[in-house]
Amino acid sequence: MSRKQILVLAAVLATMTAAVAQTPKPEDQLKLRKAAYTLMGYTFGSLDAMAGGKRAFNTDEAVRNAELLAQLATIPKGFFGEGSDKGETRAKPEVWTNRADFDAKMDKMVQETGKLPQAARSADVATLKKAVQDVDAACSACHDDYRVKRRG
Ligand code: HEC
Repeated sequence: MSRKQILVLAAVLATMTAAVAQTPKPEDQLKLRKAAYTLMGYTFGSLDAMAGGKRAFNTDEAVRNAELLAQLATIPKGFFGEGSDKGETRAKPEVWTNRADFDAKMDKMVQETGKLPQAARSADVATLKKAVQDVDAACSACHDDYRVKRRG
C-alpha cells in the first residue's frame, strides 16, 4: 500500500466512523475493525522501524505516522458489538465474556498511542523508542489474551 492509499483509506474510515450514527451491521463491524487494525499495524511498523534504527529517522514522517496511528487507534473499540464474533475473525470469545478487561486493555492502548505524536515531535530517537515500546506492550497485552494466534 502506498502512503497515499493509506491516507485515503484512513480518511474514509474516519469519516465513516463519524457518520455512522447507528451501529453498523455485525459483519460490517468485523470489516471495519480489521481494516483499522491493518492500518494500525502498517503505521506502527514504520514507527517501530524508525525507533529501532532500521529506518532513517525523519521527524515529519514520524509525526505523520504517529498522528495517524493515534487516530486509527480509537476506531476498533466501537466495532466489537453483539454478533460480530461470527465470521472470519481472530477475536477470541473472551472479548465478549470478559468485556471490562478487554475494554481496559483497549483504553490503555488508546492512551499510549495518544502519547506518540508528542514523542515523535521531540525529534529524539530515544524518546520515540520509549513511546513505541509502551505502545507495543499495550498491543501485545491484548493480543496475548484476546486474539487467536496464527497457525504455522
Ligand atoms: C483491546 C485489544 C486489542 C488491542 C489493544 C490491540 N489489538 Fe490488534 N487485534 C485485536 C483483536 C481481537 C484482533 C482480531 C480482530 C478480528 O479478526 O476480528 C486484532 C487484530 C489485529 C491485526 C490483524 C488485522 C486483520 O486484518 O486480521 C493487526 C495488524 C493488529 N491487530 C494490530 C494491532 C496494533 C498495531 C495494536 C497496537 C497499536 C493493536 N493491534 C492493539 C485486539 C487488540
